Amino acid sequence: MSDRCWDSNLYENKHGFVWQYGEALLELLSPQPGERILDLGCGTGQLMAKIAMLLRGQEAIADAKIQGIDNSPAMIEKARQNYPNLQFTIADARNFHLDEPCDAVFSNAALHWIKQPDRAIACIYQALKPGGRFVAEFGGKGNVKAIANSLYSALDAIGCPASREVNPWYFPSIGEYANLLEAQGFDVTYATLCDRLTPLEDGEIGMANWIRMFGSNFLSGLSDEQQIEVIRLVEEDLKPILYRDSRWFADYRRIRVVAVVAVDS
Ligand code: BEZ
Repeated sequence: MSDRCWDSNLYENKHGFVWQYGEALLELLSPQPGERILDLGCGTGQLMAKIAMLLRGQEAIADAKIQGIDNSPAMIEKARQNYPNLQFTIADARNFHLDEPCDAVFSNAALHWIKQPDRAIACIYQALKPGGRFVAEFGGKGNVKAIANSLYSALDAIGCPASREVNPWYFPSIGEYANLLEAQGFDVTYATLCDRLTPLEDGEIGMANWIRMFGSNFLSGLSDEQQIEVIRLVEEDLKPILYRDSRWFADYRRIRVVAVVAVDS
């Protein structure tokens, strides 16, 4: 969802947990027949296709009033290949506009890449009809804390300390995010923050793959040897807490919110 370069094949083949876990969020969205829905940060389109199915059923999926946007051209290209009947657009969450307002904006595992959340929230608010709802899940306060701390320590250990600006993620508390939503005019009707230790794919190299896919900011500017050493140090550090039964886990912590545009606002 950020303007970084994504490897959409790697994302799709090795990080399927991103949308598999997102399915529970669909219950919270509860799409109703005839509704117009936006999937913000749609990635390669899997959850959006599920929403389209819920709206129209398999045979009329192309008639679902659903649109996906993502800032990554590679993700959108892949989404269009996966679901040629659905509508995908490259757009920035901080600066988008819909021609027709929608009933719901849905977003899974995307908003932690947006470091200017107020700008995204303003666009989301503008995109919704009165009474419309915003249903989102993303990394909340404390998300991947062990991994991030370990990356900083490993960079210190090889003599390349990183500043906090290297960190590309925005992981708010419920209070912080609810305040931003309310400041924009939303009523927050639901918010939770919960730990979700998430198994990674690829056995022993699962953590290395995760870091290369999602934590590449921490490795930029390092030689290949330095990158390998940083990952080795992180694995050594985290093995006692995030590796078990030949599998790595990420210490995810999710924030989930539902917020509605008041009918008279
Ligand atoms: C997450 O889904 O929580 C996440 C994904 C990539 C990087 C950081 C967090």
